[in-house]
Amino acid sequence: MQPLKGLILSGGKGTRLRPITHTSAKQLVPVANKPVLFYGIDAMAKAGIAEIGINIAPETGEEIKEVAGDGSAFGVKITYILQDEPAGLAHAVLTAEPFLGDSPFVMYLGDNLLQGGIIDLVTAFKANEPDALILLTPVPDPEHFGVAELDGDRVVALAEKPPEPKTNLALVGVYMFMPLIHDAARAIEPSARGELEITDAIQHLVDTGRRVEPHIVQGWWKDTGRLDDMLEANRLVLDRMEHRVEGELVESAIEGRVVIEEGATLTRATVRGPAIIGAGAVLTDCYIGPYTAIGEGCAVENAEVEHSILLAGSTVRGLDGRMESSLLGRNVHISRSDQQPRAFRFMVGDNSEITIL
Ligand code: G1P
Repeated sequence: MQPLKGLILSGGKGTRLRPITHTSAKQLVPVANKPVLFYGIDAMAKAGIAEIGINIAPETGEEIKEVAGDGSAFGVKITYILQDEPAGLAHAVLTAEPFLGDSPFVMYLGDNLLQGGIIDLVTAFKANEPDALILLTPVPDPEHFGVAELDGDRVVALAEKPPEPKTNLALVGVYMFMPLIHDAARAIEPSARGELEITDAIQHLVDTGRRVEPHIVQGWWKDTGRLDDMLEANRLVLDRMEHRVEGELVESAIEGRVVIEEGATLTRATVRGPAIIGAGAVLTDCYIGPYTAIGEGCAVENAEVEHSILLAGSTVRGLDGRMESSLLGRNVHISRSDQQPRAFRFMVGDNSEITIL
């Protein structure tokens, strides 16, 4: 088999993660202080894929290019492919055809996280050489995903977000294809939501007698489209991190497994892991609880933060209660003033959400 190429889809509007995604691509929202997208690039690099195409949208493409660069930081070569309109995953494949040529490839949705990486998958694909290999996992809400029906080790039917799913096996956002998928993508019609669905293109392979092999995911998988998913992905990754303390601790206590990056300063702070504190963060007289990721250059002072994600440059100061299950974008400032009368005062962007408990 020819060497495999990689295709990562990083278009999409990320509507379910607004307002964060008004100003930043959803694939760049960090999980344990690392953009979601990087997990996909890393997984491909580890599986020996040297050439990766990243599909980008006009609105967020520049930012993605800036962050992921030419791929040398990951030991791969990245080519960016502009997808003018979000016309579906099969459309994205067709847009990438000039880059993919006649290579077999792995397609990875840029907001997906797969714990076990893709080495097993690539090995199985190379060994069996099916026309497509899809990843499946049982989920409680299959109606929100592509759903597969199996007959032994063959996929016999697929449906995209069926109202009445026949099985609970959801399509995970990682696929392996032979170049034949391009013809399949050309053969299908847009779905009810007006998109060329990759699910339909794979069904076309099945209908034309091609071999589509299932692979059940071992370990966890997350599509990080919503806040709860982001927090969960953050928990899952933090749970498996290795303890490492490089910042400076003054009269501070560390409990459990944490990462404190270089240049972070903790003064009279308690950090209870699993948690990660980014480079240059300043924590003073505060408590950081389990499952928290504090981004680079953040400051927390006289406050308690738990089970939350703070993007770079945000600050939390003087809160009475504990902040929890929260996601703060970049350079968000939350503070308390001593002025009377006591009141709440906000300046928040479109589609923000504030809950006072
Ligand atoms: C896409 C696919 C769907 C798959 C899902 C996995 O859905 O169309 O088949 O199960 O990704 O994340 P989307 O999230 O783009 O609606």
